[in-house]
Amino acid sequence: MISFVGAGPGDVDLITIKGRRLLEKADMVIYAGSLVSERHLEFCKEGCQFYNSAKMTLEEVIEKMEDAYRKGLQVVRLHTGDPTIYGAIREQMDLLERKGIDFQAISGVSSFTAACSAINREFTLPEVSQTVILTRIEGRTGVPEEEDLEKLAAHRASMALFLSIKEIDRVVEKLKRGYGREDVPVAVVYKATWEDEKIIMGTLKDIRHKVEKEGITKMAQILVGDFIDGDYERSKLYDPQFSHEYRSGNR
Ligand SMILES: C[S@@+](CC[C@H](N)C(=O)[O-])C[C@H]1O[C@@H](n2cnc3c(N)ncnc32)[C@H](O)[C@@H]1O
Repeated sequence: MISFVGAGPGDVDLITIKGRRLLEKADMVIYAGSLVSERHLEFCKEGCQFYNSAKMTLEEVIEKMEDAYRKGLQVVRLHTGDPTIYGAIREQMDLLERKGIDFQAISGVSSFTAACSAINREFTLPEVSQTVILTRIEGRTGVPEEEDLEKLAAHRASMALFLSIKEIDRVVEKLKRGYGREDVPVAVVYKATWEDEKIIMGTLKDIRHKVEKEGITKMAQILVGDFIDGDYERSKLYDPQFSHEYRSGNR
C-alpha cells in the first residue's frame, strides 16, 4: 500500500497519530525534502529507505513506489501540510491507479491553519467573514482568470495565500484594488510552527516594506482580512439568549 501522508506544517508533533503510525511501519519513505522536516524520519524503523523527492521527477517517484509495492513493502509518500492542497498528489495518484497500485491519503495540518493559530486568530468571525479563500498568485503555474487575486479580494472574505511571498509587490497591488482600501490587515507567517518561525503584522499599506526588510522570500503564508484586526459579533452558539440542540437558553 502507498500512503500519501500529510506531515503537517513543520513541528513534528503536528502530524496525525495515523500518519505517525504509518511512518513507524514504513519500509520506504519518499519525502518532500524542500518543505518537510527531516526530524519526521527519526520515527521510522531501522532499515527504512529514504528518498528526497525534491531531487526526483514524477516518473522517478512512481518507479520507486511501484518497485516497493511489487515487493510488498509499505511506502509513505510524505507531503508537507495537508497533501490535498498544492501537493501535486493527483498526478501521482492517476499514474498509480493506471498501474493498479493501491493507495490512500491521510490528512495533515495545513500551513494556512497553522499560520492562523500562530497569530492567535480565527478566520471565520460573525459579521466579518464566514468564508476562507485559499489561493495563490500566478507564477510558473498559471491561475484561471476568474480566480485572479483582485477578483477574489473583491469578496472581502478572509484569505490565505500560498506560494506567493516572492511576489509580494504584485500581491499587494492586486489586493488593494480588490479590497478597495489600503488599511486591510495582513499577517505574514514565515515557517509556521518551525523553531525559526517569524510573524510580521501590518496592513496592505506597509506589509511589503516589512517583508522586504525581513528578507522573507519563501515558505510563508500571507493571511489577509479584517479577521486579523477589528470588531466582530460574538457567536450565537455560546450566547446565553439562544437555545439549540444541546442547550436551552433564555429564548
Ligand atoms: C507546495 S505548497 C504546500 C502546501 C501544503 N500542502 C499545506 O497544506 O500547507 C508550499 C507553500 O505552502 C506554504 N507553507 C508550507 N509550509 C509552511 C509553513 N510552515 N509556514 C508558512 N507557510 C508554509 C508556503 O506558502 C509554501 O510556499
